Amino acid sequence: MFVEGISLKKKHGTDKVYDFSLGNPNVDHPEAFKRALIHVANQEIMLKHGYTPNEGYPETRQAVAQKINKTTGVKISADHIVMSCGAGGALNVILKSLLDPGDEVIILKPFFLEYPFYIENYSGVVKYANTTADFSLDIAAISKAITRKTKAIIINSPNNPTGKVYSKKNITDLARLLKEKGRALNKAIYLISDEAYAEIVFDGMKMPSILKAYPDSIIAYSYSKTLSLPGERIGYIAVNPKIYEAGDLIKALILCTRIMGFVNAPALMQRIVANLQYVTVDVKIYQKKRNLLCRGLARAGYEFIKPEGAFYLFVKSPIPDDVEYARLLLQKNILVVPGSGFGTPGYFRIAFCVDDATIIKSMDGFAAVIQACK
Ligand SMILES: Cc1ncc(COP(=O)(O)O)c(C=O)c1O
Repeated sequence: MFVEGISLKKKHGTDKVYDFSLGNPNVDHPEAFKRALIHVANQEIMLKHGYTPNEGYPETRQAVAQKINKTTGVKISADHIVMSCGAGGALNVILKSLLDPGDEVIILKPFFLEYPFYIENYSGVVKYANTTADFSLDIAAISKAITRKTKAIIINSPNNPTGKVYSKKNITDLARLLKEKGRALNKAIYLISDEAYAEIVFDGMKMPSILKAYPDSIIAYSYSKTLSLPGERIGYIAVNPKIYEAGDLIKALILCTRIMGFVNAPALMQRIVANLQYVTVDVKIYQKKRNLLCRGLARAGYEFIKPEGAFYLFVKSPIPDDVEYARLLLQKNILVVPGSGFGTPGYFRIAFCVDDATIIKSMDGFAAVIQACK
């Protein structure tokens, strides 16, 4: 899609191609980020660009722990934080640390398309469970997917590709299930919470704290979307202090951070995010784009669940073959990703982290294609 987009833009001109295929944030990073970058660049610090401690700088981990304490009330210390190369790096480090060959990891359809690869990187076995009609956690489906080989479940809220934000009740129900199953199987089932879009939540909704809800939980957090800097590769892992032998897990996470090839989170970014714990991009800009897109597509006759966060809309394909529908849209220079790529045929994903003009100008094409399919 990325390559297709480039070639279409070359052929027709950038303003005539409506590329909704990529989750590359287009909202500017906050001014505070630019100031912090210049400040750090001008600082005289020993080994400013040197290797950092494998777990990250103590002051950055301290700042992260303090924020979690303050915003969730969970007592967590810098010792439970390991800085990472984004959520992608965090998830790989977590899975490498936890998995033995043959361990099962549950993921939920529709899923972020990298998850199966991440799990298989460490000889894990992917188990799928469906979500409900509105893309909430389906507790019965997850219950069915749990076996004695289950090591972990990955959840992602706000969700890519659906924009769903799991409610407090939904998370509490999941926590209850995992506790019951863990007790019955006499083992911990780890809840890995991919929080790549943690701060991008609309309409004043609040994300419930996973650390508070479930003891055997681990967070993979990212600044990629929160601060609009996905190319800079910075995030962290937060380990619930209540995990049995959490210290051993943290040692494994620190070692895995070192040995997986990326060797520590970037030094400069660690120094910068230490001072930007409460800074985010302007989420209202994404909310406005969501509203614009939802209004236009609803008017054209498309069906979808309104996203509560992130910057994705998962739309029901008007014909059963979502790949074919994506092809039809492509004929109008509209690029979307078929739901099949997320394990959920019959839908397509629109990434609305694009200019408002792209959304507005694409509407005629969206309307024409659905009309032609009636
Ligand atoms: C659900 C989800 N998890 C993880 C990632 C990886 O993000 P990062 O840039 O933090 O590695 C992404 C990126 O788009 C994502 O959508």
